[in-house]
Amino acid sequence: MRLFKKQKSLWILFIVSLAVILPFAAPYLTMNPAVSRVELNAAKLQFPILVAHIGFALVALLTGFVQFAEPIRRVRPKLHRYAGMLYVASVGISGILAVALVFYMASFAKATGFLMLSGVWLYASWQGYRHARAGAYEAHRRWMIRSFGITLVAVSGRLAMPALLLAYALLHGFSLPEGREGMVREALEVNIWVGLLANMIAVEWFVLKPAAARARS
Ligand code: HEM
Repeated sequence: MRLFKKQKSLWILFIVSLAVILPFAAPYLTMNPAVSRVELNAAKLQFPILVAHIGFALVALLTGFVQFAEPIRRVRPKLHRYAGMLYVASVGISGILAVALVFYMASFAKATGFLMLSGVWLYASWQGYRHARAGAYEAHRRWMIRSFGITLVAVSGRLAMPALLLAYALLHGFSLPEGREGMVREALEVNIWVGLLANMIAVEWFVLKPAAARARS
């Protein structure tokens, strides 16, 4: 793939992704509900579902990067196949658990954002898998790029936060009517939508469209 031709950009993306995600994800791997940043209600299942979602999402993130490493794809096609199956299974489990987490959310804007995110994540990954099984490798490649672009919303949604906080402050003339906490809460209502839109545009316009144009020429 031309985008990652030098594979340098893949390494940068990998390092940035881990630097953004690990500080959020690592505390949950201790399985201690006291570390949860997500507000837990009385339901006993919410925390185990959250931990399992994060664990499988981490596997999807790591195996996703393996899939885009050119040398592995070329030299170890079997590893590509097994890592691909692990990626799709992890997305499947993590995505379905994410739908369950939506039912614990009080905010409608946030819930619909996560619901949309799970839906497109599951759909794109399923399409990628289905096309690989059918031997339609060009379509498989396109759908897997889309799927991984959606996996990376976990990164871009968090990276969007400083810009959203700034936008909130600007729009309120720096008066912060609900204080800092209110500002962060409002930004968290929309960051998933912003990350999803940004990643989908980036994938379609900057990755898939140029690749299709090159293939035609
Ligand atoms: C792309 C599809 C994904 C969906 C639909 C999704 C959905 C969710 C949901 C619903 C929550 C609970 C949020 C809350 O109640 O406020 C959550 C939390 C979390 N997810 Fe995901 N997620 C996705 C991908 C990922 C990925 C790829 C990772 C990275 C490994 C990840 C890591 C986390 C972490 C660390 C939390 C806890 C957040 C915090 O402590 O603030 N998620 N996710």
